[in-house]
Amino acid sequence: MAQLITVSAPGKLMLLGEHAVVYGRPCIVTAVDQRMKATVEITKEPNFELQAPDVKITDYKKAIEDVGFGEVPKGAKFVEVAVKNFLDCHPERSEGSLANASQNKSGDSSAMPQNDKFGVRITTQSEFSSEFGFGSSSASTVCVIKALSEITGVNLDNKSIFDLAYKTVLDIQGKGSGFDAAAAVYGGILYYVIGGKVIEPLNIDSLPLIVGYTGIKVDTVALINEVSKKGEKYPQVIENVYGQIEKLVEQAKVALLNKDFQSLGELMNFNEGYLSTLGVEGKKLADMIYGARNAGAYGAKLSGAGIGDCMIAIAPEDKTQAVKDAITAAGGKVIDVETNVEGVRVEG
Ligand code: PMV
Repeated sequence: MAQLITVSAPGKLMLLGEHAVVYGRPCIVTAVDQRMKATVEITKEPNFELQAPDVKITDYKKAIEDVGFGEVPKGAKFVEVAVKNFLDCHPERSEGSLANASQNKSGDSSAMPQNDKFGVRITTQSEFSSEFGFGSSSASTVCVIKALSEITGVNLDNKSIFDLAYKTVLDIQGKGSGFDAAAAVYGGILYYVIGGKVIEPLNIDSLPLIVGYTGIKVDTVALINEVSKKGEKYPQVIENVYGQIEKLVEQAKVALLNKDFQSLGELMNFNEGYLSTLGVEGKKLADMIYGARNAGAYGAKLSGAGIGDCMIAIAPEDKTQAVKDAITAAGGKVIDVETNVEGVRVEG
């Protein structure tokens, strides 16, 4: 019998500032109540084993020393590289001392591997579809790092968990702001600057957010690259767009803190205009967004990389149902989410 721990972390939705955040401008992100769970077990066999049925990974297994090397299937990448990064950063826990640390913690030396080799068995399970763009990869990365940190007794603080998770994202994608990892670690609603330069929780108890899923899967990195090419060709235009997005994010932060949802909605509409300028609006999103506005929303915009995934709207309470109906009529699927939820936590 080995030690076992289960950890969960929330998904996310970008509220304002996507794309501009990749170029150093701030964004606002909320954690959502659809959570990713990871169960991590230390095993006697020196293997890395993964079950991640949500991303079609079953019975994936390799020697622990090969973790992060060789061919890695897409669905296993984030978890595998997260394990590698944790072990690389904490070599004192990656040999026999891992077993020792766990023995000390459990107080049961017979429960742990007696040789200096050990393995890790991980199962991930998601409450939401990986297609929604809720950040399942980052959430599973954060879960695995937190679980390893707890099970080995390293007990990393949130910023260290975030740093390792962001490194994992960059190792795999090469690009990205890390806002999704921040939402998974800290939860809540965050004002955020790339790389965790600023991670500022905004104290707001509720946000009347309506979420519509397009059904279209997008490749975030490909869209970041497309926008980046526009920036190279038209630097003054695109820099100006990012500057305007920064200004509206600053105003939206104030509107959010004042619970001024009408202004927040109007600023979301401005943001959508700039995202359209960047070329990431897409017809389906536009239909859902304009449908929501025509049905009485204060504002609506895409959330994330654009073209597909989800749109969000803010509406007065008496217009909520009409806005949801309009999203459905435009071919979207309304997803009920709670915002501003708890970050990564140990479940047992
Ligand atoms: O596609 P998503 O939901 O992961 O959002 C991407 C948001 C970008 O700003 C385009 C990229 C990033 O890492 O911030």
